[in-house]
Amino acid sequence: MKIGIDKIGFFAPHMYVDMNKLAVARNVEPEKFTIGIGQEKMAIAPITQDPVTLAANAALMILDETDRGKIDFVIFGTESGIDNSKSGAVYVHHLLGLNPNARSIEVKQACYGATAGIQMAKGHIALNPESRVLVLGSDIARYGLNTSGESTQGAGAVAMVISAEPKIMALENKSAYLTADIMDFWRPVYSDTAFVDGKFSNEQYIHFFTTVWEQYKNKSGLELNNFEAICFHLPYTKMGLKALRTVIEEADEATQEKLLANYQSSTTYNRNIGNIYTGSLYLSLVSLLEQSEQLKEGSRIGLYSYGSGAVGEFFTGILQPNYRDYLQTKSHAELFASRTEISIEEYEEVFQQTIPVDGSTATFDATKDPATIYLAGMKDNMRQYVNKTH
Ligand code: HMG
Repeated sequence: MKIGIDKIGFFAPHMYVDMNKLAVARNVEPEKFTIGIGQEKMAIAPITQDPVTLAANAALMILDETDRGKIDFVIFGTESGIDNSKSGAVYVHHLLGLNPNARSIEVKQACYGATAGIQMAKGHIALNPESRVLVLGSDIARYGLNTSGESTQGAGAVAMVISAEPKIMALENKSAYLTADIMDFWRPVYSDTAFVDGKFSNEQYIHFFTTVWEQYKNKSGLELNNFEAICFHLPYTKMGLKALRTVIEEADEATQEKLLANYQSSTTYNRNIGNIYTGSLYLSLVSLLEQSEQLKEGSRIGLYSYGSGAVGEFFTGILQPNYRDYLQTKSHAELFASRTEISIEEYEEVFQQTIPVDGSTATFDATKDPATIYLAGMKDNMRQYVNKTH
């Protein structure tokens, strides 16, 4: 039985900042952000979008009534959880009107959470082939104004339905993974911005990649020439390229060209959204599938997941017949086209808006937020969510 990605979609908030303008405001050369980091636009979440609403809006992109009835497991990968106790999955389950006979949990290991969710989902489907699992990766990446991580922020979510006989990509079973207790990036529970040792995090990302890649080759007997494309966790789009360059010469010339061209396609969406932590690798996969014209059914795609702290994994999937018919290319193009640019001053203001933490009541102005699901305010320490279609 094949198990894999049956549906995949993403959502990003409607506002963004132009990285050229951010560079000017921060007194650095724009090319540092657009070439050195490789980012064009950075998605900004208004106060009316949090990790729960981003995830629920992403899921709305892909779910139909059959999915709503068959999904019996919701796995929410995030590192910007809104509650230390209750999972974001339970809110999403309610907002989407899913079958009540379901398990709903949150998974955390930095940007690796959604990958852990996929692997768990595979096990669930192997035991329950009729089921479907909703895997979400949703985050708001915050380092702070005027910090060195600022240019690598972003906001958004990816939603995937994992099922038997998937229409888009069947996941293969060979996988290589690694854990090491390191402090490259972390966020203590009292802080709403991340702490990071930037250079060390870059080194560890590459070290984990080369380690799991070697392990994967030994386990699978495959080599780089067996791949059409490799998607990377993309904290910024230059990062994956640095990792790819460490192994690219293992491939013949034609494969090298193909991998580099497909790398470009796999970065288009991320370049215009920024880091969305748990969803970043899967946003890159959506970008590849929707933007590459070279890919064919039967192609093997490699996926490198990295979550600081740190866990890394390399695994693979095979594109299924007519997979293009099941993508959300048009809806995603519309989402990009309908976004609004905001000025650096507006971004700084939005960045500093926070929800009350003293139990007071707040009502947020959502008139400018076109999203179907949004956060309307706070009451009695409870988030007030609205689904406009209910
Ligand atoms: P920085 O100090 O601002 O930048 O930190 P830099 O001085 O290293 O420059 C960046 C690049 O721009 C360099 O290229 C420069 O040469 C180039 P490189 O040598 O690296 O190839 N550059 C220029 N290029 C063209 N024209 C110019 C120009 N000027 C400079 N004029 C850093 C950058 C990414 C470290 C910082 O933004 C940061 O700390 N970001 C957050 C951490 C991060 O993203 N780490 C990535 C790996 S860890 C990870 O992926 C996990 C994560 O997603 C979290 C999770 O798992 O939950 C972060």
